[in-house]
Amino acid sequence: MADQYAQIREDNRPIEIPAIRWDEPPEGPVLVLLDQTRLPAEEVELVCTDASALVEAIRSLAVRGAPLLGIAGAYGVALAAARGFDVDGAAASLASARPTAVNLSYGVRRAQEAHLAVLRAGGGEEAAAAAALAAARALHTEDAEASGRMAVHGLALLDELLPGGSHRILTHCNTGALVSGGEGTAFAVALAAHRVGRLRRLWVDETRPLLQGARLTSYEAARAGMAYTLLTDNAAGSLFSAGEVDAVLIGADRIAADGSVANKVGSYPLAVLARYHHVPFIVVAPLTTVDPDTPNGASIEVEQRAGHEVTEITAPLVPVAGVEAGGGIPVAPLGTQAYNPAFDVTPPELVTAIVTEEGVVSPVTAEALAELCDRSRQV
Ligand code: MRU
Repeated sequence: MADQYAQIREDNRPIEIPAIRWDEPPEGPVLVLLDQTRLPAEEVELVCTDASALVEAIRSLAVRGAPLLGIAGAYGVALAAARGFDVDGAAASLASARPTAVNLSYGVRRAQEAHLAVLRAGGGEEAAAAAALAAARALHTEDAEASGRMAVHGLALLDELLPGGSHRILTHCNTGALVSGGEGTAFAVALAAHRVGRLRRLWVDETRPLLQGARLTSYEAARAGMAYTLLTDNAAGSLFSAGEVDAVLIGADRIAADGSVANKVGSYPLAVLARYHHVPFIVVAPLTTVDPDTPNGASIEVEQRAGHEVTEITAPLVPVAGVEAGGGIPVAPLGTQAYNPAFDVTPPELVTAIVTEEGVVSPVTAEALAELCDRSRQV
């Protein structure tokens, strides 16, 4: 344990293993993931040879975060096609692996439609599989580009809202390169501020129960050389009341047509705190996260996860002191029931702005959001 901790502390290299990559070894195509359940202690690749392995990786959060789930879903369809499996069956199980991030079903559908279009046009299986892969690659590239554009828009917005400042930004969950084809969403904005010398501090919520903030955002911030401080989720109120937060930057898993934002559980309390303390609450997400078919926050399906994630300390997820990986250390009496929603929903009136690759929506209204989506479709 001590050795492992020392390794975490001293290891400040840039992240070398991409969050996701397609590979074609002689044995056949595979999807290679950086296993996020093992971070920050170990950078281990997880090789998926079929869609069911990818579904398991999605459910266990080895691959996670809305934009990356979309990319993974698209590659998953391409994998099924390339290996000659039932593409529609694979698409159905991938799309339903987790319900909240709309990017997942979007990515799956995009690759599935590309595959189907070739078959309908009389093309063979090989050409259809190539089309599915091309769709996945296109989504991967587009997400990287969107990430760069969100960083530009987000930094400009910060400068507008907090002129001349050196910002203290609070973030929740994990929204960097680990969830994206590029440098992420909210984290990409903080990184842009860091690069131009305008990030005084990144406050990192630990993000109970699976500690995406402690394990993953700290990992990314350390490697980027950012000034960051980790706090327990319930310490955020003290930070606000001490006047230590200039802005909150978070990502999103689904944005409903009315501008309601589903994101990692704990985001909504931050929005309430931010409003009370007159601090901007900014959501950064690509347009693939906006779902015009979900009318409002109440219509967003929030994933409920297993109670043991709360009744046991589940991280670090690598073996420690005789505990098996994923085994967890019980912290509540046997049989304790747990409430464990993976996400919560913040109503649009608490959101100062939504930053997308096509620009900023502020104030957040259904009309302004629809207009931005329409504009991007016309481009
Ligand atoms: O359960 P997770 O780890 O997949 O949740 C991820 C989040 O809530 C992120 O904040 C969200 O996907 C935005 S990532 C750009």
